[in-house]
Amino acid sequence: MSPSTTVSRLPHLLKDDDLDRTHQEQLLDAAARLKAARADGAEQPRLAGRTIAILFEKPSTRTRSAFEVAIYEQGGNCTYIDPASSHLGVAESIEDTAIVLGRLYDGIAFRGYAHTDVETLAQHAGVPVWNGLTDRWHPTQALADLLTMREHSTTSITRTSVCFLGDARDNVAHSLLTSGAIAGMDVRVACPDQLRPDSDITRIAERIADGSGGRVLVTADVDEAVRGADFLYTDVWVSMGEPPEAWAERIPLLRPYRVDRAMLERTGNPNVKFLHCLPAIHDQNSQLGRELAAAHGLDGAEVADDVFDSPQSIVFDQAENRMHTIKAVMLASLTGADGQA
Ligand code: CP
Ligand code: NVA
Repeated sequence: MSPSTTVSRLPHLLKDDDLDRTHQEQLLDAAARLKAARADGAEQPRLAGRTIAILFEKPSTRTRSAFEVAIYEQGGNCTYIDPASSHLGVAESIEDTAIVLGRLYDGIAFRGYAHTDVETLAQHAGVPVWNGLTDRWHPTQALADLLTMREHSTTSITRTSVCFLGDARDNVAHSLLTSGAIAGMDVRVACPDQLRPDSDITRIAERIADGSGGRVLVTADVDEAVRGADFLYTDVWVSMGEPPEAWAERIPLLRPYRVDRAMLERTGNPNVKFLHCLPAIHDQNSQLGRELAAAHGLDGAEVADDVFDSPQSIVFDQAENRMHTIKAVMLASLTGADGQA
């Protein structure tokens, strides 16, 4: 890793291709430095006196906690505004909410449905806006994914391959495809034809990969996609905001893409690692896991428990890295600091 010395100012982070290769590398280097400084008890608080709004229209465990802990550790303050406790979208438009929050806060983290909502917020807030997930993109997730793959690679990330399996129309797949292409990775997507990534996003990722030395492959052929992969990645088969009835149609389509031990073996790579943004349906220890077992005879869905809970699984490093990368993003927007002590 070649540490950068400054981080370019980041006006907003709404989607993955708001970052170019240099900016992405600067943020990842800054996140790695912030992680090391925290472990050494040497972190410098640079958000003292700053206040951040965390405006979420969908549930969250990791993203909300990552923003809150990052803000507290940097000496700032925040307000978490959940779907039930604001007027957003009901009695007040996104524009008006943006103007009000922008007068009070130094930055806004937003999680919502339509991607245009986070764009509207950014247009009117007058302060940095960070996308904590929309139906289309999950850019702070992809930064954590890249940091985690860097940490678990013995070679440069530009010489590694990641394969996403599952519902590739979703935010996590779109962000991985695009951020992986920016990083110059070999990014593969294995999915049924009905669940391919948005064609605009595939085109963007292909164009970026042409310039970065990366590679993009989208195919229904599992063997072609997973062969030699360094990382396998999956996500839930039905995302937030989709109706529960979607499970019945999704399960038969996605069963061939489930990540189980046999799938790891199909890579032919004994060192393959497993990634998942979480939450994951990997057993019957959640309400949804039990419901899927009762209704569809599934024991876990997108990933088998013996993969999720195996030495190859790096999902909890990935979850922790949400915080370090989000901290780097907020610092880049609000101070330009790069995580140096
Ligand atoms: N990966 C992720 O975004 O998790 P949360 O939904 O818990 O924030
Ligand atoms: N695709 C998932 C990601 C959850 C972090 C969803 O949108 O529900």
